[in-house]
Amino acid sequence: MEQKISVGLLGLGTVGTGVIKIIKGHQEQLTHQVGCPVHIEKVLVRDMKKKRSVEVEEHLLTENPFDVVANPNIDVVIEVMGGVKEAKEWILEALKHKKNVVTANKDLVALHGAELLQVAQKNECDLFYEASVAGGIPIIRSLVEGLSSDRIKKMMGIVNGTTNFILTKMSKAGSSYEDVLQEAQRLGYAESDPTSDVEGLDAARKMAILASLGFSMNIHLEDVSARGISSVTEEDLHYCDQLGYTMKLIGLAQRDEGRVEVSVEPTLLPNEHPLAAVNDEYNAVYVYGEAVGETMFYGPGAGSLPTATAVMSDVVTVMKNMRLGVTGRSIKAPLYEKQLKTDVEIQSKYFMRLHVLDKAGTFSAITSLFADHDVSFEKLLQLPIEGTEVAEIIIITHKTTKRIYEDIYQKLNNLDVVQSVESSYRVEGGK
Ligand code: NAP
Ligand code: HSE
Repeated sequence: MEQKISVGLLGLGTVGTGVIKIIKGHQEQLTHQVGCPVHIEKVLVRDMKKKRSVEVEEHLLTENPFDVVANPNIDVVIEVMGGVKEAKEWILEALKHKKNVVTANKDLVALHGAELLQVAQKNECDLFYEASVAGGIPIIRSLVEGLSSDRIKKMMGIVNGTTNFILTKMSKAGSSYEDVLQEAQRLGYAESDPTSDVEGLDAARKMAILASLGFSMNIHLEDVSARGISSVTEEDLHYCDQLGYTMKLIGLAQRDEGRVEVSVEPTLLPNEHPLAAVNDEYNAVYVYGEAVGETMFYGPGAGSLPTATAVMSDVVTVMKNMRLGVTGRSIKAPLYEKQLKTDVEIQSKYFMRLHVLDKAGTFSAITSLFADHDVSFEKLLQLPIEGTEVAEIIIITHKTTKRIYEDIYQKLNNLDVVQSVESSYRVEGGK
């Protein structure tokens, strides 16, 4: 039996600081779980002189990654530095040196997860990444352990805290997009370059990870169609509210008869939908399994201690595996070949906001176009725009295919009576 188990950290920022705090502050719980104390051996940083918000003995800090990844005293390498190139290089080096690895890095896992897992398995090492999706919510372990015997049909997630914070403040407090984005950056929810948050890339990475695990298929980042919230306007949110909907950036992963779609886009949910009540920076993932039915996981999607809790849950699992001598054995190749749905197979309801000429014949031209494509309206609203000869039309369609909807969208743009298609969103939930 080991006298202690030693970890090395790559990174001591928001998440790394939380990891150190938990190791130092929760030793009793960790020893109870693992059977021996957890010891911090080395911590890689970029700047050793930087002031830290956690106390770390100076001799533990290093600027040389090999002091961690090739250190013979270290059992588990915790990668919490971010980025892709160096993180991948150093994780591969750590695995080569037979170190188990825990990472919070969704960018890396979404792009190179399959390759890294293969190398880990070859070296009989564990590689876990619970913190890479939805911060403090144990969604990955719930999928691969709790729901392991079920066939997952659908996952819908609010998996980006920054965009949920922005949409909540815009709809409930009437704040402007730019002001709330700045607030999200100040509060530390946003990535250093918030483009990946607001354009849906961060959520797409997380959905690629969830879909790969939930559907046991190799879903790559480029398989996820992603659209962010930067073009959502106050008018769109106003009409959502008027029609009884809430707008959320939804990551959707759906499987029908072995064929899957994975997307991230601003989506209207009926106000009664459980995800509609998830506000501010909080995350939630709704999972529908054939046997279990509906489940929902809710919690903080980011932040130092919540994310560090997820990291430490992986560390504890690695340590238990080490003691049982089974590291690397839980890594499984995907069970199914990836089969993506085409636009003819993807079905949804849609919201559309149009500016049209306020004159006789306009309405019938628009309704005829929808009728020609066999698409009917669930809700319809027409309002004059004061002081102009333009009216605003808001449509919520019944279900149709993505292909047909895109065809209608193109043709509407070419109608003389349509001045502009101002916005268009997917609608989920409800009948
Ligand atoms: P962060 O605050 O920017 O911290 C990064 C740390 O890594 C810093 O300590 C930095 O050193 C160090 N570092 C970065 N590049 C380095 C290099 N080339 N050489 C040496 N040290 C380097 O990042 P974070 O927010 O903790 O995020 C870490 C990871 O967790 C990312 O993959 C992120 O996506 C993921 N994650 C974060 C959250 C969250 O809420 N923050 C939630 C879930 C997942 P210095 O301190 O010396 O600059
Ligand atoms: N920028 C991310 C978010 C951090 O807003 O959700 C957690 O991954």
